[in-house]
Amino acid sequence: MAGGGVVAPSGRRQDYPGGLTPFVLMACLVASSGGLIFGYDIGISGGVTSMDPFLRGFFPSVYQKQLQAEAGGGGSQYCKFDSQLLTLFTSSLYVAALASSLMAASVTRAFGRKWSMFAGGITFLVGCVFNGAAVNVAMLILGRVLLGVGVGFANQSVPVYLSEMAPARMRGMLNNGFQLMITLGVFFANLINYGTDRITGGWGWRLSLGLAAVPAAIITVGSLFLPDTPNSLLERGQPEEARRMLRRVRGVDDADVSAEYDDLVAAGEASRAVSHPWRDILRRKHRPQLVMAVAIPLFQQLTGINVIMFYAPVLFKTLGFGGGASLMSAVITGLVNLVSTLVSVFTVDRVGRRALLLEGGAQMLAGQLAVGALIGAKFGWSGVATIPTGYAVAVVVVMCAYVAGFAWSWGPLAWLVPSEVMPLEIRPAGQSITVAVNMLMTFGVAQAFLPLLCRLKFVLFFAFAAFVVVMTLFVAFFLPETKGVPIEDMAAVWKAHWYWKRFVDDDGEGADGQGGDIEMGFAGDAKN
Ligand code: BGC
Repeated sequence: MAGGGVVAPSGRRQDYPGGLTPFVLMACLVASSGGLIFGYDIGISGGVTSMDPFLRGFFPSVYQKQLQAEAGGGGSQYCKFDSQLLTLFTSSLYVAALASSLMAASVTRAFGRKWSMFAGGITFLVGCVFNGAAVNVAMLILGRVLLGVGVGFANQSVPVYLSEMAPARMRGMLNNGFQLMITLGVFFANLINYGTDRITGGWGWRLSLGLAAVPAAIITVGSLFLPDTPNSLLERGQPEEARRMLRRVRGVDDADVSAEYDDLVAAGEASRAVSHPWRDILRRKHRPQLVMAVAIPLFQQLTGINVIMFYAPVLFKTLGFGGGASLMSAVITGLVNLVSTLVSVFTVDRVGRRALLLEGGAQMLAGQLAVGALIGAKFGWSGVATIPTGYAVAVVVVMCAYVAGFAWSWGPLAWLVPSEVMPLEIRPAGQSITVAVNMLMTFGVAQAFLPLLCRLKFVLFFAFAAFVVVMTLFVAFFLPETKGVPIEDMAAVWKAHWYWKRFVDDDGEGADGQGGDIEMGFAGDAKN
């Protein structure tokens, strides 16, 4: 518990009354189900693109190449799935999500977080229909684009919603519910692929893609029942409603919400004074938040996690596992991902964000090095080999260790940290940047992985290992601990940080002439 914890520079105690009410728990549970659509999608595409009837129908040239490789006439195992068109199927979603997350910022700010979630759910639902019914590549890609728009809206609004609803000392746990739902979605998708692959008649892939409608319906309907966050109500000029909501969310009486309410009011006023959040986020005093909004999702994708998430079945097939065994291995990594995320849910508010990121980094580093070494030792440069069962099991085991490290660190925290470090006035804009960078990088990694595997071979895994070293050093030096700090008191954290304090202390540059004193009620401190 962070009870009694830190004291803000303003002298305010950084903990407010109120605990985990059933009301807030329900609201957070429903909102985090927005993660299901993202996760389902991540998990489904890899499996579908490894199914023969799907490849035969939509990507015949990839199918031919694969047959040749299997017959031993097509050369290197490293290259058998290298097709830009096939990768475009996977990654078109991320380009659409990138664009839509930028639009989502205005919806989230002007109408409240829940309407962005609703917009996300409904668009995703339409995308599922196109995908399940696809008769040509154009329909497939159009469906993917609609799914992407849905993901952009959901990922922009859900983490912000969760961080605003949660009591400070449980914010990590409740926000990590989003990632838990992502991993649940991935896992279900892996299981479904495993089942639909067995359907004779060649239409199993339709079921895989169409069933995405189930998580989409959950968030679409669920969002209609969600209450608005007090922060958003205040920002939109509804103080009475905001106070009532805060009492309800925290489960305390009016006197007990006063301190928190006053902080929210200050943040709400600051926010309303800012008419151009996109310009405001570029101001010098917001540099630390801007850097986090960009660096954290960038690093998350450079861990290489989606190589495993998207391509686990393809990767395992590359390693010589049979089709069924490949999908089974993906189910195993999916389960490890899910269970390990729970570790983060239950420890993040106790051990803190930094400890998880540092440990996770070390574990991922070891995992990537081991995967690279095992693959390199067997396949070398030629890429021609078959691997014995024991060896294959070893590859799966080290991949699982790597996935576990990711699942309790960069997985959930790359969504939690950006959503909790922004002041209200730039929170939707900041979160949009985070989603956009995440999607851009996801797209880049998805698009580049198969061609890179074909060229760099096992060395590719060492490249990811090098990125993990860089991001772990970044955390060590530049990421302050944010556990237990109320969301509208976050300025204190930057002011106390050895490096970032110079930016928040000196707000001379880039100011637009108005709203210079708006930083969360710490204006006085900010000027000394
Ligand atoms: C990432 C995804 C990743 C997933 C795996 C998420 O946090 O943003 O790119 O596939 O975790 O669980």
